[in-house]
Amino acid sequence: MSTLVAGGQKRTAILYQSVIGKKIIMAVTGFVLCGFVAGHMVGNLQLFAGPEKLNHYAELLQSLGGALWAIRGALLLAVGLHIAMALQLTKLKWEARPTAYVKKASIASSYASRTMIWSGPIIGAFLIYHLLHFTTGQAHPEFVRGDVYRNVVTGFQNPAVALFYMVANILLAIHLYHGVWSMFQSLGVAHPRYTPMLKTVAKGYGYVIGIGNVSMPLAVLAGLVK
Ligand code: HEM
Repeated sequence: MSTLVAGGQKRTAILYQSVIGKKIIMAVTGFVLCGFVAGHMVGNLQLFAGPEKLNHYAELLQSLGGALWAIRGALLLAVGLHIAMALQLTKLKWEARPTAYVKKASIASSYASRTMIWSGPIIGAFLIYHLLHFTTGQAHPEFVRGDVYRNVVTGFQNPAVALFYMVANILLAIHLYHGVWSMFQSLGVAHPRYTPMLKTVAKGYGYVIGIGNVSMPLAVLAGLVK
């Protein structure tokens, strides 16, 4: 039994240390976060259904009690591992290429993949602001605990805030497009025959999340939701 446990721990350590292991951890945590982002967006879109619906949904989540904390813990772990792997892989990439290319070789790398390095940190910064804005309220001057609908509407009525949300969510959509495509490659799902289809899935997912999330600040700013 103890040999089995030791063997399992050793395999986990090898996975964590190898480049492919780091990529797999990145892909699996990315998958978990993709699921959260999609679910969160679907829940938030109830903004368009009015205050009762959105606030009822928020109350339902709160009523999960311990389960909600377990989900939050899992998400925090996923975010932490995702960032740690991104930093380690970037460091390894830089170490493997100590001198910069004379001419920037961006022919093979797409716009989305080149933006990963800075879209990631901006999304991280957005997330910290977002939690202080809508969850704890410190960054929201008109925050009312328990009235999620009001908090979202008064929050987005500030054009600078709405604009920041829109920019961050467009970046998130680009990050997701490349991230989902990389995830397929890291998990070994990519096969030349399926490449166009998988790229379409990644692009489609990015578009859906981008349009869904941008629609909320935009609708409030346009006075369609008040
Ligand atoms: C326009 C887009 C978004 C809107 C309108 C929105 C809205 C909200 C609201 C109202 C809350 C507080 C819910 C409550 O207290 O019951 C919240 C929490 C949260 N949001 Fe967002 N969100 C958006 C985008 C995002 C994105 C893109 C991410 C991740 C990248 C994200 C991650 C989170 C997290 C982690 C929480 C805390 C959940 C918890 O622990 O209860 N949100 N969001």
